[in-house]
Amino acid sequence: MGGRIFSGVQPTGNLHLGNYLGAIRNWVALQEQYESIFCVVDMHAITMPPWEPEALRAHTREVTAAYIAAGIDPQRCVIFVQSHVAAHAQLAWVFNCVAAIGWLNRMTQFKDKAGKDREGAMAGLYVYPVLMAADVLAYRATHVPVGEDQKQHLELMRDIAGAFNRRYDVDFFPLPEPLILGTATRVMSLRDGRAKMSKSDPSDNSRINLTDDADTIARKVRRAKSDSEMGLSWEPERRPEAANLLNIYAALAEEPREAVVERFAASSFADFKGTLADLAVARLAPIAGEMRRLLADPGHIDAILRAGAERAEAIASDNLAQVYDIVGFLRR
Ligand code: TRP
Repeated sequence: MGGRIFSGVQPTGNLHLGNYLGAIRNWVALQEQYESIFCVVDMHAITMPPWEPEALRAHTREVTAAYIAAGIDPQRCVIFVQSHVAAHAQLAWVFNCVAAIGWLNRMTQFKDKAGKDREGAMAGLYVYPVLMAADVLAYRATHVPVGEDQKQHLELMRDIAGAFNRRYDVDFFPLPEPLILGTATRVMSLRDGRAKMSKSDPSDNSRINLTDDADTIARKVRRAKSDSEMGLSWEPERRPEAANLLNIYAALAEEPREAVVERFAASSFADFKGTLADLAVARLAPIAGEMRRLLADPGHIDAILRAGAERAEAIASDNLAQVYDIVGFLRR
């Protein structure tokens, strides 16, 4: 085994192709090489509106179903819900006393998400990356598969781990390495090749949801935005839509992008989209079907999450007890 990985997805609804190709799909291969812990980070999901308790419960089960349907094996890996293991919040408090305000002020994602009304943003949104550091370091994980957009949070996590070790003169936490994987870490909107595929885009045609059925997947691919040039080419700046679809094809086919670009250089956009639609249906429709099957039995999903929480808890509570000793909290 090459170490321990930890990663997580927020249960915010509308899981889409970007979440799958950018994150979950890569974890399936990693579970063979690493001891793997995959979390549904519900505590992160309440840092932003909408605050909808019933939807949060449904989305938490949906993300769990997506993990399993994509091929993550709940026997081999630990799959669990963040709020089920108290050590995340407890360690986050300790880290709030390690991370300097100046470090948090540099986080570009906070600035983006807080928008213009920074004074009105929740304190939880501000310390979001501290909780994320606690997620990973509660397990002393060595590697973190994440998308490009989380790189800065990983840097902060390493700063926190290093500052803790130095302050208390210990070698307790590893400095976790990011694993940025896959050809399609950035999947763009099907309606606009310059915008990221997003759960919050008002147009459902802009994304392929992991729960879309075969007809919907095919229709969205066939209606994806294209340009009027002959043939396909890899020119992301000039032809962002063509680049996005070629990228998606390469990722779904698990082929090098160059080979895909060469193969479709002389195809019409319409023919290429037809081929891509077939491929997308072949790869994604079975996952949607399996998700539907799993979600029909919430009791089964909850049982998997309970078992996962027990295994996670065993590791995290032991590490937390050591942290409490290191910082000088009196033993109970
Ligand atoms: N911030 C991550 C995202 O939005 C989700 C996340 C929370 C996470 N805790 C984590 C990812 C720990 C990796 C490790 O994608």
